[in-house]
Amino acid sequence: MALYLLMALTDSVVVLVAPAWVSYPSQVTLAGKRSIVIQTTYEDGWKLTPHSLTQAVERQAQPYENKLVIFTNPGNPTGQVYTAEELRELAEVFRKYKMIVVSDEIYSYLTYDEDFVSLSKFYPEGTVITTGLSKWASGGGWRTGYAMFPPELSFLRNLLGSAASHTFTCAPVPQQCAVAEYFNNHEACAEYMKHALGSYTLSAYSVAGKIAYCSTKAIIILLLL
Ligand SMILES: Cc1ncc(COP(=O)(O)O)c(C=O)c1O
Repeated sequence: MALYLLMALTDSVVVLVAPAWVSYPSQVTLAGKRSIVIQTTYEDGWKLTPHSLTQAVERQAQPYENKLVIFTNPGNPTGQVYTAEELRELAEVFRKYKMIVVSDEIYSYLTYDEDFVSLSKFYPEGTVITTGLSKWASGGGWRTGYAMFPPELSFLRNLLGSAASHTFTCAPVPQQCAVAEYFNNHEACAEYMKHALGSYTLSAYSVAGKIAYCSTKAIIILLLL
């Protein structure tokens, strides 16, 4: 809902990086916005690159018109995770064109072997982080998420707060209690879910006779039934 409202509230073209979570294009349509879709490739590791981003922007009649980029890291469905260096290079392009980037980091606790780095480290003034408890905390269906804004984008946070009050208003109280528990006992929760969702899940599927494929970077499991 926050993602959709952010699209609806900004006077921007929405930039999507494909392949992407299936709901983004529908949210763009519902918000009545135009989108620019940047297709990633196998050769680029299914990642947005400074080159592909620049090319897509420069192809537009007005390269400097307002843009809201939906940037998913770790990626869904690719499971790819951007390195600090890749994020630093992308940040230069985002900054050059003054883009607002929604960094959807809902899978950030589900990486295996690398420390997750947020785009906000390199582009703090233009990054809104969205995340939630659906994935790593197995809260799917609860749809409890939250967004973090830099001071430079406080106008957008205020707009979102106002739009939220006229739509979903707030998360149900039991969910708010669960979120409070998570913030108070973050380490214990994170450790438990890492075990439950990581190697344990994979070995459980293997024991059940299913062939499981895991992305090397993040937890995206494909079952070949
Ligand atoms: C990349 C991405 N962002 C956001 C969401 C939405 O999560 P929620 O179910 O908490 O609304 C999903 C759900 O699949 C997702 O894959």
